[in-house]
Amino acid sequence: MTNVIIIFIHLSAAGVALGSLVFCLKIYLPMVEDKKVERNENSPSYKVLDLLTPTVFACMLALVGTGVYFLLENYSAQVGLKPGYYNLFGIKMVFVAGAFFASMYSAFSLRIHISDLDLNPGNKKLVPQTLKKMIGLSKMTLWMVAIATFLGIWLARY
Ligand code: HEM
Repeated sequence: MTNVIIIFIHLSAAGVALGSLVFCLKIYLPMVEDKKVERNENSPSYKVLDLLTPTVFACMLALVGTGVYFLLENYSAQVGLKPGYYNLFGIKMVFVAGAFFASMYSAFSLRIHISDLDLNPGNKKLVPQTLKKMIGLSKMTLWMVAIATFLGIWLARY
């Protein structure tokens, strides 16, 4: 029963992270943003990324928490695993670490540089390049989370 709950939260967090990244970066923003106009604080991407980056990071925390808890909960069952399980797990962790740090940097460093522009109007000039960096990093996070999801499913059926 505990395993079912842990994997339910693990999969839900993966679904929310992947779903929100795909929707915002591949469907919503390409539809509403005019590519010819330079992004600024009134662009849709400014508001969307302000919500997207902390959401993805919260999912990453839930994924790490439930993933570690799953391993601890099934500690005694680990002796019977097929050889190669931890090789796959290690590869998954490389992608998880990349997604984790990319999302943390976007949510807590880049996003903060361009937030509260009323209090820091001087930061307005940073908006276009910071949004560009955040979109690039979020796209990288998307692919890393997608690969980690694939490897996770493989791991569960190994
Ligand atoms: C980007 C982050 C992550 C994603 C997208 C992800 C995704 C997944 C998915 C889709 C599964 C398959 C579950 C199933 O079909 O039953 C899974 C399984 C698993 N995940 Fe993750 N995961 C992530 C991070 C982590 C982390 C940080 C850990 C551990 C520290 C972890 C440990 C595990 C383990 C041990 C399983 C296999 C369960 C089994 O053998 O049945 N995951 N993951």
